[in-house]
Amino acid sequence: MATLNEEIERRRTFAIISHPDAGKTTLTEKLLLFGGAIHIAGAVKSNKIKKTATSDWMEIEKQRGISVATSVMGFNYGDYKINILDTPGHQDFAEDTYRTLTAVDSVIIVVDVAKGVEQQTRKLMEVCRMRNTPVIIFVNKLDREGRDPFEILDELESELKIKVRPLSWPINIGAKFKGVYNIYEHSLDLFTPDKQKVSERVEIDDINDSRIDQAVGESDAAKLREDLELIEGVYPDFDVNDYLAAKTAPVFFGSALNTFGVKELLDCFVKIAPSPRPVMTVEREVRPEEEAFSGIVFKIHANMDPNHRSCIAFVKICSGRFERNAAYKHIRSGKLMKFSSATAFMAQKKNIVDEAFPGDIVGIPDTGNFKIGDTLTEGENIHFKGLPSFSPEMFKYIENTDPMKSKQLEKGIQQLMDEGVAQLFVNQFNGRKIIGTVGQLQFEVIQYRLLHEYGAQCRWEPISLYKACWIESDDADALEAFKKRKHQFMAVDREGRDVFLADSNYVLQMAQNDFPKIRFHFTSEF
Ligand code: G4P
Repeated sequence: MATLNEEIERRRTFAIISHPDAGKTTLTEKLLLFGGAIHIAGAVKSNKIKKTATSDWMEIEKQRGISVATSVMGFNYGDYKINILDTPGHQDFAEDTYRTLTAVDSVIIVVDVAKGVEQQTRKLMEVCRMRNTPVIIFVNKLDREGRDPFEILDELESELKIKVRPLSWPINIGAKFKGVYNIYEHSLDLFTPDKQKVSERVEIDDINDSRIDQAVGESDAAKLREDLELIEGVYPDFDVNDYLAAKTAPVFFGSALNTFGVKELLDCFVKIAPSPRPVMTVEREVRPEEEAFSGIVFKIHANMDPNHRSCIAFVKICSGRFERNAAYKHIRSGKLMKFSSATAFMAQKKNIVDEAFPGDIVGIPDTGNFKIGDTLTEGENIHFKGLPSFSPEMFKYIENTDPMKSKQLEKGIQQLMDEGVAQLFVNQFNGRKIIGTVGQLQFEVIQYRLLHEYGAQCRWEPISLYKACWIESDDADALEAFKKRKHQFMAVDREGRDVFLADSNYVLQMAQNDFPKIRFHFTSEF
């Protein structure tokens, strides 16, 4: 039987992120194909949230319901156990994605070669940067006309604010795309468009091998050698420690749809990507190899069926061995709990899990006991640092429209916030409740769920806000002075922390200038 250390070492828990349409779903599917987790392409596709359905959020929620099965995709690849954490495709659910990024040890970013770095990618990269998450970049759709690879590298570097280092290199792109030279392995893969199969590999000794000329023609071979020389001149040698320290992002080129360049990516990924890393609690750092089990709830998925108000709490195992039916302590309530029907996510099927290891995710059926950020342990009173909330982008006052149901509304809001659907702020000036989200859809989701699950009716009222930011200061007087001056714009979040509601970028900048002793934070983790 493998030891705990061996189990940890072989685990790779990561997320694939991209701007919608860059090819995240296709790449995920191809990785599953390599892992033997699925046998035909197209299997993941059906669970995808279609971007076109923006106005039809019920449909989106329905698809999200289906997507519980693909929330975590675990499979074995060689000696490795891979856990891919799925992130919602729809950008209105970005908050879900942010939280998922806190539960992974590394990230693969997919970029469309024609479009380069897009808005959503930039935002998600910020979250990775904040947490020093190692990233690998896959430049996709090389079978289509796109931009010059050197130009793309420059853009990646400047837009994503990270050093890049190509580990594979395309031979032409678009119609003339012939293949990818694998810099990491010093091998050459020739391109044969095929959605189901893996392409042909040409064995070569080194870059001067004449088999390259035979395979792609002399002029392309010459261009390749020239490009590689330039790369070696411009980019320092790849150092895996720079990658692990999130200072450098290795870059691969390929076409996910044609299963091209994907195996190179995967093979390099399993070798260099980190196994589960230590996690901070308020009290101390928890190392994965510690004997005692500990885990954190990073996501709660509600059942959309109002008759079954059950959820699935997603627990990431941070240390030790999770065992079925063992008694674990839910730190926030102090209760001991046993989980007889926790599920593992293997090959898209949910199975009851007997044991699981750091890096694995288990799904626990829940009827409202869990809150995002909750800690489970064998008894030790530690608290994983709460998952950060990110400053929302849209705000509305929430008003009760049925005075007889104010208790229900209160409870509904509490529980939906526990699930992490949106954030609640209470304005200290007028006592009104403000809901902050990252997308318009959530307001509709909240209103619908309050009515159907809690029998409470609400209405939205506009509020013109640019940003909510958490404030703090080492100087208590300065903090008081700020709060006094801005008293109309002060609120508290659910934990009672001070939040400044800036109604414009200008106001925020002025506040930052005028109050140098105040620190303004755009996530709740500081
Ligand atoms: P996403 O999850 O990041 O939103 O992207 P997804 O994988 O769904 O890919 C978006 C579109 O790009 C899909 O086309 C997909 O087939 C296509 N695509 C992905 N990888 C490649 C590639 O390497 N080359 C080319 N040419 N296209 C690629 P679609 O028309 O939106 O969907 P479908 O009708 O093909 O399913």
